[in-house]
Amino acid sequence: MIDYGATRAVTLVAGSSGTGKTSFCLRYLVNDRRLAWRALWDADGQLSARLGLPAAGTAEDLAASIEDGWTIFDPNVLFPGRHAEAFAWFCAWVWQTAATIPGPKVLLVDEVWRYCSNVSIPQSLAECIQTGRVRHLSCMFATQRPNRLNEAITNEVTECVSFRLQGTNALARVQELGVPPGEVAGLAPGQWVSVGCQTGKRSSGRLWGSVSGSRTD
Ligand SMILES: Nc1ncnc2c1ncn2[C@@H]1O[C@H](COP(=O)(O)OP(=O)(O)O)[C@@H](O)[C@H]1O
Ligand SMILES: [Mg+2]
Repeated sequence: MIDYGATRAVTLVAGSSGTGKTSFCLRYLVNDRRLAWRALWDADGQLSARLGLPAAGTAEDLAASIEDGWTIFDPNVLFPGRHAEAFAWFCAWVWQTAATIPGPKVLLVDEVWRYCSNVSIPQSLAECIQTGRVRHLSCMFATQRPNRLNEAITNEVTECVSFRLQGTNALARVQELGVPPGEVAGLAPGQWVSVGCQTGKRSSGRLWGSVSGSRTD
C-alpha cells in the first residue's frame, strides 16, 4: 500500500465565513470518483447533514464506514466534550487506516484553525500532512482564518483555493501562498481563485450564480 512515488497534495481552502468553502470541499469529495476513501472530521454534524450520509460515532461504525468509501466522524459519542483529544485520535486513526486501503484517499478538516495554532498542532495531523503522500493520503483543509494556521500546514500546501477573504493578516497569508490579495478581496460569494503553490498554475470558478463553476486548468 505504501507508494513512495506518490505526489503530495495538501489543499488549503480559505475564505471568509459563508463564502463557499464547505460547499467547495464537499463538492470536490463527491465529484472525485477516483477517491477510494474520504475521511471527514465532523464535530458539529454539519457535513453529515449536508451530505445526507450517516456519521460514524462508535468503533463499529468507523470500521463499517471504510468499505462505503466515506467515514464521517462524529466525536461526540466516543469523546464527549473532548474534541481536542478526539481530533488527535481521529487523525492517528486515519493515518493508520490509510495504510490498509489502496488508492487515493483524502482527509478533510473543515475550519482547521480550531485544531491548531501558530505554535501548536496535533502530532498525528502533522504526520498525515507530512507523510500522507506515501500512503496516497491527501489533505484538504478549509479555514476562515488562514493566518491562524500552523507552519506544519502552510509549509506543505500544494494548492491554495481562495474565496473572498478580508483582513490584512489573512490576506498576507494567502499572498505568501501565491494568491493575489487584490483579487480575492473583491470576489463574489461562491467565486474562487486557485493557485498551485509549486507550479504557479492558476484556475478560477464559481460554485453558484450566473456563471457555472469551472476549472480552467
Ligand atoms: N446555490 C446557492 N446559491 C447561493 N447561495 C448558496 C447556494 N448554496 C449555498 N449558498 C449559501 O452559501 C453559504 C454557505 O456556504 P458554505 O459553503 O457553508 O460557506 P463557508 O463554508 O465558507 O462558510 C450560505 O450562506 C448558503 O446559503
Ligand atoms: Mg464552512
